[in-house]
Amino acid sequence: MSETRKPPERESIPFRNPGWAGNTGEFELSEREVRGDDYVGTRPADGGHPSRATSYPYMLEKKDPSAPLFSGSYRERYEKILTRYPDTRAALLPVLNLAQELRGHISQETMTEVGALLDLSDAYVRGVTTFYTMYNKRPVGRFLIQVCTNVSCNLCGADDVLEAFLEHTGTELGGTSTDGLFTVMEVECLAACGFPTAVQINSRYYESIEPGDVPALLKHLREQGAE
Ligand code: FES
Repeated sequence: MSETRKPPERESIPFRNPGWAGNTGEFELSEREVRGDDYVGTRPADGGHPSRATSYPYMLEKKDPSAPLFSGSYRERYEKILTRYPDTRAALLPVLNLAQELRGHISQETMTEVGALLDLSDAYVRGVTTFYTMYNKRPVGRFLIQVCTNVSCNLCGADDVLEAFLEHTGTELGGTSTDGLFTVMEVECLAACGFPTAVQINSRYYESIEPGDVPALLKHLREQGAE
């Protein structure tokens, strides 16, 4: 008779996995199981993605549009990224992500610098950067609020949620509040259609948002922004 196989023992400290579709998953995974053990750099303190060299964009609290590309731990992460791709062209997306994390947006100058680093033409880098809406082509606030107004969310009142964000931040669509905290944008489907209205704030998802939730959510963000 064959023996029942026991599952492998897990490390005792559970890790709250942010999950792919937001902050909803609870899995008994250790941090090492999620991130691997060859991670380079500092894990985002709030809402960042726990992947290894992290090629996933999040934004530092204090962005520095003139920060060097790249030095210190960012240089380590940049070099780590290069080892994962067959050529520099293939590494363009994660390198742009890294630049955005550091500088907050990808300006024309940043495109040129990244092109020089990777030996790619300005036109190529610009073509890629402008194709993806996740790259901010101009500065955004400390919190980039992206409200999905696509079909599922729209049917459930996304327009009113968007309006509430604009009203309570005192901004216009795509503009940044005078305190520099908030930029509110309308986006296409965030792939969280089961939880309308879906809102992405920096790299974190907030689901099933209604207009009445907006003041408390902004208060929470303002408290974070004042830290
Ligand atoms: S329609 Fe809003 S997340 Fe898909």
